[in-house]
Amino acid sequence: MRKPIIAGNWKMNKTPREAAELVRALIPLVDDADCEVVVCPPFTALQAVRELIEGTNIKWGAQNVHWAQNGAFTGEISVEMLLELGVAYAIVGHSERRQYFGDTDQSVNARAKAAFAGGITPIICVGETLEQRERGETDQIVFQQAVSALDGFTAGDVTHVVIAYEPIWAIGTGRTATSEQANDTIAVIRRAIASAYGEPAAQSVRIQYGGSMNANNAKELMAMPHIDGGLIGGASLKADAFAQIVHSAQ
Ligand code: PGA
Repeated sequence: MRKPIIAGNWKMNKTPREAAELVRALIPLVDDADCEVVVCPPFTALQAVRELIEGTNIKWGAQNVHWAQNGAFTGEISVEMLLELGVAYAIVGHSERRQYFGDTDQSVNARAKAAFAGGITPIICVGETLEQRERGETDQIVFQQAVSALDGFTAGDVTHVVIAYEPIWAIGTGRTATSEQANDTIAVIRRAIASAYGEPAAQSVRIQYGGSMNANNAKELMAMPHIDGGLIGGASLKADAFAQIVHSAQ
């Protein structure tokens, strides 16, 4: 059985003080969660969040990570830096990183490999644009993104990573994929994993849905057989809303 994972992607929101307020409110609301609960604050708030949630059932992750150990990469953060802050997860290849900061399938793969090698679980994001969906290219795009991102991983490794299917047209737009659309596309990603790594890896890897998931639609999405949780942006910024999504995964 795959354990659902609900992760909050706070994006560029919350100062350390605001982040502390949010997790303080969140801790008692999700302490009975039946799924894995992760928050991904900005780098600057990781320490404040860590101090509050260490010893609780909430884990913390980063929103990006670099592939090099250290060096002249202004503005980037290494695996070692994150490990010292106790980070368990790192989002890689979010569409906003691909769109605004030049991430490519190759750099996403390099980031995912470095994170995994260091003991940080990558949450690898894939997803199509609206134009690609309208042209009927969704399956081909997500298939190729998933396979590229995992290049160099073994079948055993793949069972431990997390993939997030996030249709770009659904992110921050209030327009969610239907549960059938999300489930069908996640099934395609599972087939991509099966073709590259075999059926056991495809059945073990956890694949989340992300894109305007909220307290109203989470239950229906997560009831679908292929959907193993969610990567939540806007609705993760309020403790009540995020906690309701966490409880929908049970
Ligand atoms: P959203 O963002 O929930 O605000 O649509 C999801 C994401 O970008 O991870």
